[in-house]
Amino acid sequence: MCYDINTHCIHTERLIINLKMADVDIAWTTTESGFKMPTVALGTLMENIKALIKKPTVALGTLMENIEPDNAQVAQLVRDAIDLGYRHFDTAQIYRSEPGVGKGIRDKIESGDVKREDIFVTTKLWRNAHGTDDVVPSLRSSLQELGLDYVDLFLIHWPTAFQSGPNQFPKDEVGKFQYASIDYLDTWKGMESCVDLGLTKYIGLSNYNSKQIQRILDTCRIKPVNLQIEVHPYLSNSKLVAFCKSHDITVMAYSPLGGFKWRNGETEGPSIFNDSTIQAIARKYEKSPAQIALRFQLQRGVAVCPKSSKKHRIAENINVFDFTLGPEDMNRLLACDRNYRLNAEFPDHPFYPFHENF
Ligand SMILES: NC(=O)c1ccc[n+]([C@@H]2O[C@H](COP(=O)([O-])OP(=O)(O)OC[C@H]3O[C@@H](n4cnc5c(N)ncnc54)[C@H](OP(=O)(O)O)[C@@H]3O)[C@@H](O)[C@H]2O)c1
Repeated sequence: MCYDINTHCIHTERLIINLKMADVDIAWTTTESGFKMPTVALGTLMENIKALIKKPTVALGTLMENIEPDNAQVAQLVRDAIDLGYRHFDTAQIYRSEPGVGKGIRDKIESGDVKREDIFVTTKLWRNAHGTDDVVPSLRSSLQELGLDYVDLFLIHWPTAFQSGPNQFPKDEVGKFQYASIDYLDTWKGMESCVDLGLTKYIGLSNYNSKQIQRILDTCRIKPVNLQIEVHPYLSNSKLVAFCKSHDITVMAYSPLGGFKWRNGETEGPSIFNDSTIQAIARKYEKSPAQIALRFQLQRGVAVCPKSSKKHRIAENINVFDFTLGPEDMNRLLACDRNYRLNAEFPDHPFYPFHENF
């Protein structure tokens, strides 16, 4: 895999990602079908998820109480982010941050600083609502939490369904998660209904592999416009990115700073902030390692949704449009890839996505 200075292409084993950097407005990602999305979004998966992941055996009632994020804080972060230039917010039903995201956006609309159509909101369907007829009610519930009439993009969060019902982490009497074998093709029909009803403008996927995406493409009425996947310097996901580009599907990198593990309290393992290559490139461009990691994805044609609960970092993370990484540095960053995945759960589920190569 290498970056070609003359064509501005990243050559992968299978495909070429044509960046045509001189022609592309890097602040937006688009499809040929007319979908357009701001490439830097504010991630809103707050530290509350730690309770979800680390204490999966906690009874539902207790769990719910423990996992609420501080939505007043989320709303303030969203207002700050809008002031700093963010126009895209990434949330999900399971993050519990929809109320804060919606409040922040509505406040800025009410104060006349932005219009709804200036803002792009992504939310996601959780695993306990994968039945065809469960999808529309689930999005309606998200819209109620957000206090909005529609979202711009609605994603299936994971292909791996749980038993349908109000419990977001259903378990049997011995504490085993209750999977459902609901085919995501049936879930997709419900997603399409959300578009028909005007509840979302576009639909897409998260954490799907290429074969799963291809199954949807082969049968869908409305195409997915976006795939949200884990991507950072230690997990370039190049083959899947190239696959999406070849099917006119945009890609959003989640955990673009490799931050997923920190939220879970882990301190072991590689960190892009301590990486000597990334640090050297940061010094060369007089930028921070975070800015290098984010700009790297943008130049690969991949959108990013860094999360921070600190205003100065939110500012730092969108200050990535005033420099360009040269081809040698793009190649050095591509070479950081070590296929290091932070977020992989439920590997025994029949639709677990990461057994495939890409
Ligand atoms: N689709 C999915 O399955 C999925 C899964 C995971 C995440 N996501 C989305 O992706 C978003 C981002 O992922 P993430 O939260 O896992 O990880 P991330 O954005 O890669 O990293 C977040 C971590 O980096 C720190 N940070 C942020 N900006 C920084 C900077 N400039 N310098 C140093 N540290 C910085 C944050 O700490 P502070 O808050 O203290 O600044 C936080 O600990 C989520 O919020 C969510 O919206 C989606």
